[in-house]
Amino acid sequence: MKINESTRSLGAYGALLILFASNYCLACNDRVASGTQEQQKDWWQTAQFYQIYPRSFMDSNGDGIGDLKGITSRLDHLKDIGVTAAWLSPIFKSPMVDFGYDISDFYDIQDEYGTMDDFRELVAEANKKGIKIILDFVPNHSSNESEWFKKSVRRERGYEDYYVWADGKYDAEGNRIPPSNWLQSFRGSAWEWREERQQYYLHQFAVQQADLNYRNPAVVEQMKRILRFWLDQGVAGFRVDAVPVLFEVEPDENGQYPDEGVSGATDDKDDRAYLKNELIENRPETIDMVYQWRQVMDDYQRIHGGDTRVLLIETYAPPAYTMQMYGNRSVEGAHLPFNFNLITGLKPDVTAPLVQQAIDQWLNNMPAGRTANWVIGNHDQRRAASRYGAQNTDAMNMLVMILPGASVTYQGEELGMIDGVISWEDTVDPAACNSNTSIYEKFTRDPSRTPFQWSDGKNAGFSSAAKTWLPLAPEYEILNVEVESSSAYSHLAIYKSLVELRKTSKTLQNGAYKYKALDDGVFVLKRSLAGEETIVFVANLGNAAKTVNLQTDFDTYLPNAMNLKILSADSSKTIGTEINLTRLSLESGEALVLGRR
Ligand code: GLC
Repeated sequence: MKINESTRSLGAYGALLILFASNYCLACNDRVASGTQEQQKDWWQTAQFYQIYPRSFMDSNGDGIGDLKGITSRLDHLKDIGVTAAWLSPIFKSPMVDFGYDISDFYDIQDEYGTMDDFRELVAEANKKGIKIILDFVPNHSSNESEWFKKSVRRERGYEDYYVWADGKYDAEGNRIPPSNWLQSFRGSAWEWREERQQYYLHQFAVQQADLNYRNPAVVEQMKRILRFWLDQGVAGFRVDAVPVLFEVEPDENGQYPDEGVSGATDDKDDRAYLKNELIENRPETIDMVYQWRQVMDDYQRIHGGDTRVLLIETYAPPAYTMQMYGNRSVEGAHLPFNFNLITGLKPDVTAPLVQQAIDQWLNNMPAGRTANWVIGNHDQRRAASRYGAQNTDAMNMLVMILPGASVTYQGEELGMIDGVISWEDTVDPAACNSNTSIYEKFTRDPSRTPFQWSDGKNAGFSSAAKTWLPLAPEYEILNVEVESSSAYSHLAIYKSLVELRKTSKTLQNGAYKYKALDDGVFVLKRSLAGEETIVFVANLGNAAKTVNLQTDFDTYLPNAMNLKILSADSSKTIGTEINLTRLSLESGEALVLGRR
């Protein structure tokens, strides 16, 4: 059944292969799908996306904060590591309560990041190098300092219902209380009272991030205008922020909202996880809005020509919901709803069966004909190298590059950057600042937002300032572009070899896949395509050395030996040598990419 589900789109040729594959697959626990030579892929389907957190990428003017000119000055790094498209976390005007995710003017650039001209220059220079620029679209909320919000507070004509406003309720003692028990993402009530308007407004995130009202057609239109405005500036698409929280349940005829049920997940009543969040997340109306935005992208391309403009959607949601983001049989949706399974599914430790399960959960649920993608980190998560263990850094980069579909890298993953250590005094993330000194580390996102590490010099080459906005992460003296560029066995060198392979290998672009957890530690993935080189990735994610037989334990069709193409930094094997697959010894943390025609 699984086989049929993950390969429905393959046509007659594919179906024949499946019949063949299923003969031996049903007897074991492998995951298989076929590939075809002819598939013509659009640019984004095999792309290597790269997330830039502009505040921490490169500071050009010495204020300790990254900026657009800084990014432009470092485009060669992106080129060097083969990036197809870079998506930038928000660069728009913002009071920076949530570091740009609280936008006060969606049509302008934040001063500390530069000017509109700087942005145009960045797009032009990037395009010259064959790199596309994608912006972060934050549709759910605006800053409470935006003109729209101020007008809405004053009930100015056209703006009365721009946000989600509701009257308060009264408790038994006659005290005013919020309209419902809903909680924001950064602790505490999701409702904030506005004396001037004598109503509460909804904020699913910080108090300063007021939720826009998508039941108001003027808001829907305004947000589409924003998309077109930035498309006019030459961007190749958008990463869309916090999509599942776009709509909430409708109020009843008296304007009252129902309470959420208690989840049982935590006793901490200020933590959003305390409630089920069924009324304020994953609503059906949200899916339709994604389809509407896709229409904006497609219409734009039809009118203006050029390459496909993409929509990448941030969704932390159950598969049944996330997969609808792709579209359905009659409507197109997001090109890629981000796949966070390798983040959310590999906790508390990374094991081979969990990796298999995380991959299964995407590929077995993905609708026919859609493109997969693989994400291992972003600015909201702890650093991949810290989460998976530094010894698994190369293995995880290999996995993301060798699985079928698009790969996504968060800045610094190519270097194996690890979490910063941020004291309570240095903490700036609202998710942590809204807690207290004893629990902030559970919530803080600052550790993955520290300055990018260019060299072992002052401020890791990020800035000439006396102090950077966040302190540097440990080990920057070793984990940086300059030092890693001079070694053939650095994380960076391995990353570059992977990119080269992805770009040149038809097998990786169009090939079949098969994968399996051989035990708790060893995970193996094979990609193959008729007439092309077969590629095998094998990693020991466990704590002890292992010896495996890839023929008997995984795939009897594999040859006795394959050539070693890429290996993890700490492997003692030698590139180019033949590796015997029937008796393959792997140290803890060792990962290999093998090839054979
Ligand atoms: C998304 C962003 C996160 C931000 C939130 C509110 O989840 O990735 O950084 O805090 O939305 O905009």
